[in-house]
Amino acid sequence: MLATDFKEQVLKLKKERNAVILAHNYQVPDVQDVADFTGDSLALSRNAAATKADLIIFCGVHFMAETASIICPDKKVLIPDLEAGCSLASTINADELAAWKAEHPDAAVVSYVNTSADVKALSDYCCTSSNAVKVVNSIPADRKVLFLPDMFLGAYVAEVTKRKDMYIWPGECHVHAGIKAEDINKMLATLKNADFLVHPECSCTSSTMYHMAKGDISQKAHVLSTEGMMKHARASDAKQFVVATETGILYRMKKDNPDKEFIPVKEDAVCKYMKKITIDKVYNSLVHDVYEVKVPEAVAAKARLAIDRMLAIS
Ligand code: 13P
Ligand code: SF4
Repeated sequence: MLATDFKEQVLKLKKERNAVILAHNYQVPDVQDVADFTGDSLALSRNAAATKADLIIFCGVHFMAETASIICPDKKVLIPDLEAGCSLASTINADELAAWKAEHPDAAVVSYVNTSADVKALSDYCCTSSNAVKVVNSIPADRKVLFLPDMFLGAYVAEVTKRKDMYIWPGECHVHAGIKAEDINKMLATLKNADFLVHPECSCTSSTMYHMAKGDISQKAHVLSTEGMMKHARASDAKQFVVATETGILYRMKKDNPDKEFIPVKEDAVCKYMKKITIDKVYNSLVHDVYEVKVPEAVAAKARLAIDRMLAIS
């Protein structure tokens, strides 16, 4: 079958099965085209929580589908490919977190949503890139914080909140860690009027903030989640945007803003895990009911507390 035929079949089956298709902003265009909703991790969680559908086809990576299963225990959640993992989520497991907590027994644990359900179950709060600052600010200033697993997001949050007693797990996402300050500076030097959008997971984020404070970078950097970038692109008067994140987001940016130009800092900033989900696999999911992501209730109940605390704050 051609991609267009798969798309037609997916739209038909989706109705028949009362299914909803949720897609992350990094998904391939064919998948975004059939999605009921495309957004960042936080917006996808909110949508999963609000849906009336019986079935959720989660087009993103595994921890995101787990989050949907935790939030909606009575709904069936399917991910079209079980190999859609996340290099960042893999940097810490439950045993490692338990050992870290034992070293700091009084600390509040804040886990970025890019973590397994087992890790969330050992956390006090969950956060995403769009609400990490808010979540950390909600914790009393004199309480120690363990922040995991992204060191660049952690450094960014520590800088913005001016938190003194914050310990950061040394994890990173291979895609965002590869976006360096040199890439940014080279590009911004030739695009003086462009707005500069940067994801807080990028390795350039902390150094970008430092250089901005020193006045070395003239353009103001907008440190935003993927959905924050979408909103900024829509609202800004700028005609050119330099984008420092996974390039899948450019499809939606260009589609929603045909009169504006979006330039990736790094053409090869591509998440191979996100790209595991293809339209034929979405079709296969709907036909064969695969692959179910179900978090055991004992783990889900604890993880839900951390997610609910986040949703209540943001
Ligand atoms: P967002 O929450 O900003 O969409 O980020 C999720 C992610 O995996 C970034 O790599
Ligand atoms: Fe994980 Fe990085 Fe891919 Fe996001 S871009 S899903 S953090 S590996």
